[in-house]
Amino acid sequence: MSLKERVYYIKEEAKNFSLNSKEDLEKFRLKFLVKKSEMMELFNIIKDLAGEDRKEAGRILNEAKKIIEEKFQIHQDNLVNEPEKRNDEDLTLPPLYTNKGSRHPISVIKNRIIEIFSRIGFTIEEGPEIEDDWHNFSALNFAENHPARDMQDTFFIDMENQLALRTHTSSVQIRTMQTQKPPIRILAPGRVYRNEAVSARANCFFHQIEGLYIDEKVSFADLKQTLYYFVKEMYGDDIEVRFRPSYFPFTEPSAEMDISCTICKGKGCNVCKHSGWLEILGCGMVHPNVLKNCDIDPEKYSGFAFGMGIERQSMLLNGVNDLRTFFDNDTRFLKQL
Ligand code: PHE
Repeated sequence: MSLKERVYYIKEEAKNFSLNSKEDLEKFRLKFLVKKSEMMELFNIIKDLAGEDRKEAGRILNEAKKIIEEKFQIHQDNLVNEPEKRNDEDLTLPPLYTNKGSRHPISVIKNRIIEIFSRIGFTIEEGPEIEDDWHNFSALNFAENHPARDMQDTFFIDMENQLALRTHTSSVQIRTMQTQKPPIRILAPGRVYRNEAVSARANCFFHQIEGLYIDEKVSFADLKQTLYYFVKEMYGDDIEVRFRPSYFPFTEPSAEMDISCTICKGKGCNVCKHSGWLEILGCGMVHPNVLKNCDIDPEKYSGFAFGMGIERQSMLLNGVNDLRTFFDNDTRFLKQL
C-alpha cells in the first residue's frame, strides 16, 4: 500500500470512528493522536523521502492530522468540557461529524446512464415488477410455446391469473405505448427477475435499463448513432463498437452490441475470454406486431428499442468480477465504487 493509501484509510477510519463517551474519546486519542499511533509513525517514515516527495507526503499527512485533531477537539468540547462553558448559541461553531451515507453503485451507474440519454431527450418511465403474461410476453410477440415462458426462467406467482415477476424491462415498452402516442422517447430502469442458478455471472434478480424510441421514419441508422453516442459518453472516445445479428421476438432485425474490452483494450484477456470484445446490450427495430398490439400503426411509425443490464455496465467500468457483490451490501465493497 502506498503512503497516500495508508493515510487515506487511516483518515477514513478516524472519520467513521463513533465518539459517544469519554472512553471512546480516549480510545480515539490512543489510536490516532499519540506518538506511537500508526498515523504519527508515518511522520517518521517521510523523513527519509527525497525533496518533492517529502513535501507532498508532508502535505497529505498534515491535512489528515488536522482533520483528526479537529474531530477530537470538537468531541472533547462536547463530551468533556462542561456544558456551561460551551456557548450553544454560537452558530459559527463547526458541526459535529456524522457518518455520511452514499449511493449504491447500481444507482450511481443507473443515474449516469439516465443522465446521458436525458441529454438527447429521453424521459423516464416505470412499470410494475409483478407483471401479467400479456405485458411481459404476448404483447412482445413471444410465441405461445416460447421457452422463456417456461417455469425454469420465470418466477410465476399466480398461475391462474398468469402473474409473474417481470423477466425484463421490455414490459414497460408495452405500458408506455399503450398510454402515449408517438413520438415516444423513454428510458425504463428497474429490477427484473429470472429463475437462474446464482453464480458470479447470474443472479435471480438484477437491474436493467430499457430504451424505446418511436416516431415517423426512425431507422436502424438512428439506433446505431444513438448507441454510438451512449458508448462514447459512457466508456470514452477510444472504445470500439460492433453489432452482431441476434434474435428477440419483439425486434426485427435484432442485434447485440459489443464494445472493445475495457480491460485489455481489445488485445485479449480473461475478462473478454480472449475475444477482445464484451457484450453490453441487446437492441433492434421494434417488431410491427408489437406496434400493432399497442394500437400504433406500423405503416406510419417505426422505432427502436434496446435493453442493458445495469450491474454489467458497472462490472465493466469498475472491473468487478462477481455479480453477487452488488447484493451482499458489504460496505467495504460499496465504499470502493
Ligand atoms: N429484453 C431483452 C433482454 O432482457 C433486451 C432487449 C431489449 C433486446 C430491447 C432488444 C430490445 O435480454
